[in-house]
Amino acid sequence: MNPLRDSLETLTGLHPTVEAVEKLTRFGDWLVTEAIPAGGLGPNEGSDVVNRHLLGSAAFSIGFPQPPDTCWDLGSGVGLPGIVLAVLWPQTRMVLVDRSQRRCDLARRAARILDIGVDVEVGDIAGLEVRAEAIVSRATIPAARLLPILEKLLAPGGVAVVSGSDTVPGPPFLAITIPQGVLDTPPKLLMMRSP
Ligand SMILES: C[S@@+](CC[C@H](N)C(=O)[O-])C[C@H]1O[C@@H](n2cnc3c(N)ncnc32)[C@H](O)[C@@H]1O
Repeated sequence: MNPLRDSLETLTGLHPTVEAVEKLTRFGDWLVTEAIPAGGLGPNEGSDVVNRHLLGSAAFSIGFPQPPDTCWDLGSGVGLPGIVLAVLWPQTRMVLVDRSQRRCDLARRAARILDIGVDVEVGDIAGLEVRAEAIVSRATIPAARLLPILEKLLAPGGVAVVSGSDTVPGPPFLAITIPQGVLDTPPKLLMMRSP
């Protein structure tokens, strides 16, 4: 029995392999030992890495009926949620985009250490020209400001899962229900499907 594996299964319905759980554990350790000291995450982010960052990132998968072929993480920072999803969805091509060169360098380093294949692009998400079937975005810009970018980038039928806030979401966003009992403070997540 592994508590992280159990929590991941209850939260997401996915069944991560032993290797995947081990990679996520290593990623959590790396966040504390490298990403925070390097300034890629805030200095106070190390106290609850498993719940806040690993499980909080894994929760983004709930909005997708199945792992997409390709998923874009807009404003990925050091790889949240993109690297966590890349581990949980090994068949998915994850593309991480952030305008911070330093955070992108850190995300690439994490991917190398974990031996996972992710694409990391430095750039402004407003300048992207893609048709995406799947998008995630965590704590990048408020959902209302992200909406025009999602509308531009999502292919018809495409799904986006983004961070929400305390305000009640309006269409086209729907609040994602996070399974109870795993996280003390579940993240507020919104999903939208492009018409
Ligand atoms: C608060 S951090 C969150 C990072 C990561 N998603 C996480 O949950 O730890 C916000 C990130 O969004 C990036 N960002 C904000 N606006 C952006 C934009 N217009 N284009 C690309 N990246 C952006 C910042 O560089 C920063 O890394």
